[in-house]
Amino acid sequence: MYRSRLKGSLDEHILAYLSSMDEDTSLLHYDIAGSEAHSIMLYEQGLISKDELARILEALESAKNISADELRSMKERYEDVHETLEAYVISKAGMDAGGKMHTARSRNDQVTLDLRMKVRDDITVVEYAILDLIDALLARARECIDAVMPMYTHLQHAQIGSFSHYLLAYTDMLFRDVDRLESCYARVNLSPLGSSAIGGTSLPVNRERVASLLGFNGIVENSIDATSSRDFLLEFCSSLCITMLDLSRMAEDLVLWSSSEFNYIELPDELASTSSVMPQKKNPCPLELMRARASTVLGLLTAIMGIVRSLPSGYNRDLQEGKRIALDVSKIAYDSLLIMKAIISDLRVKRDSMLDAAEKSYAIALDVAEQLVQRGIAFRVAHRLVGALVAYAHEHSMTLRDLGIDEVRVALDRLDEKGSLVEFISSILKDADPASSLSRRISRGSANPSEQKRMIDAREERSREYRARISVREERLKDALASLQESVGRFIKHVEQ
Ligand code: ARG
Repeated sequence: MYRSRLKGSLDEHILAYLSSMDEDTSLLHYDIAGSEAHSIMLYEQGLISKDELARILEALESAKNISADELRSMKERYEDVHETLEAYVISKAGMDAGGKMHTARSRNDQVTLDLRMKVRDDITVVEYAILDLIDALLARARECIDAVMPMYTHLQHAQIGSFSHYLLAYTDMLFRDVDRLESCYARVNLSPLGSSAIGGTSLPVNRERVASLLGFNGIVENSIDATSSRDFLLEFCSSLCITMLDLSRMAEDLVLWSSSEFNYIELPDELASTSSVMPQKKNPCPLELMRARASTVLGLLTAIMGIVRSLPSGYNRDLQEGKRIALDVSKIAYDSLLIMKAIISDLRVKRDSMLDAAEKSYAIALDVAEQLVQRGIAFRVAHRLVGALVAYAHEHSMTLRDLGIDEVRVALDRLDEKGSLVEFISSILKDADPASSLSRRISRGSANPSEQKRMIDAREERSREYRARISVREERLKDALASLQESVGRFIKHVEQ
C-alpha cells in the first residue's frame, strides 16, 4: 500500500522477513484506539470533515471484530498492523475518507504509541501479579512464624531463622520490583503522537489533545526523542529482569529444599512433574524452568540493549525487533509470577524436618556467643570459646546442647580465656534451643517471632496501599478510554441520523 515510489510488490520471503504481524496482533486494539483519537483531533483541528471522521471511526470500530482468519490473510499482504489497519479502513470508508486517516502521522510515532499503551497496561497487570505473590508470601509467613529452620550463608548453616523470615525477605524484594515498575510507568505514560516521522508536521495538530483522549499524562515533547527512543522499553525489561532474578533465586532455594537431603518443603503434585522411567520421581520442573527463563530474560535484555546501542538517531527498522523482545519478556515474567504464587500458596512446609535440622546444627553458635557478650566478655573472646566448643562437639558428633559440664571443661581446657566461665557456659548450652534463640533476637528486622508479626502486619498494610494506588490510576485510564469510546459513538451516530 505504501509503495508509491517503488515498483512491483515485495518479494514474499522479504515480506515474511520484514513482517511484525505476529507480535503486532496484541497491538491491534491499541492501534485502533490511537487512530480514533488521532482522527477526532484531525476533525477538531479542521483537517477532516465530520462525515469523513464518522466514516473513519465506523471502519475503525468494525476493525475490532476482524477475525483471526482475516488477520492471517492480511498478514500475507502487509508488513505490520499499521499498514493492515489503514488498508482495512480505506477498504471500508473509501479512499476519500479513509485515505485521510494517516494525515500528520507516521508509523514511527504510531508504533511507539502502541508500545507505550501496551507497556502501561502490562505494567499494571504485572504489578497486580507481584502483589498477588506478595500476599501469598505474607499469608504463608503468618502461618510459619514458628517454623524454625537453619538459615544459610555459603550454603552452610549460618544462624537459626524461621521460614516466615525467609518469605518476608522476598516480599520486600518484590515490593521494590513494584516500585521500579511504578516509576517506569510515569515515563511510559506519555504520548508520542503528532511527531510525524521524526521532525514534526506543518499541519496544525494538537498533540496534547490526543494525549488526553488516550489517557496519557502528557506528551514526549521532542519529535526525534518521541519517535526513536526506546529507553522506556529498556527500563521495563530491566525491571522485569530483576523480578525474574528474584524469582529465580527463590526457585533455586525451593528446588534444593524439596530434595530428599533437605526435605524442608514438598511441592503439590499438581505443580510437579515426573519421570518417564523412574516411577518414584517427583521433579520440581516449574521451578527449574523458572530458573532457566530468568536466563532467557537476561539474554533478551542484552539483546534489546544491543539493538539500541550505536543505532543512528531517528527511527530505524532494528527497533521493530525490540518490540518482540519486550513483549516476550513481559509474558515470561507474568507467567512466572503466576506459577510462583501457586507454588507458594500450595507447598507443604515440613516443620519437623526444618526443626530437626536446626536442632542438629551449630547455627546456634552466634546466639551462644552473644550471651557471653551480655555477660561482659569481649566478642572476640566469646568467638574463640564457642568455636572451641563447636570443634569439640563436631569431633564427637554431638550438638552444643548435648555438651555436659565436663565436656565443656575438656573442650575449653587449653583456652586461658575460659577463666571461671565453665559453669556459666554449660548453663547457657542447656537452654540453647532454636526457639529460645529466636526469641532472644531483638534487632529490627530479625527473625524474632514478634518482629515477624510486626513486619507481616506492616507489609499487609503496604500491599493494600499499593493496590489502592494502582487502582486509582487504573480507573483514571479506564475513564479516559470510556469517554473516548463515547465520543466515537457520538460521531458515528451523528452521520447515521
Ligand atoms: N513495523 C514497524 C515496527 O514495528 C513499524 C514502523 C515502521 N516504520 C518505518 N518507517 N518503516 O517498528
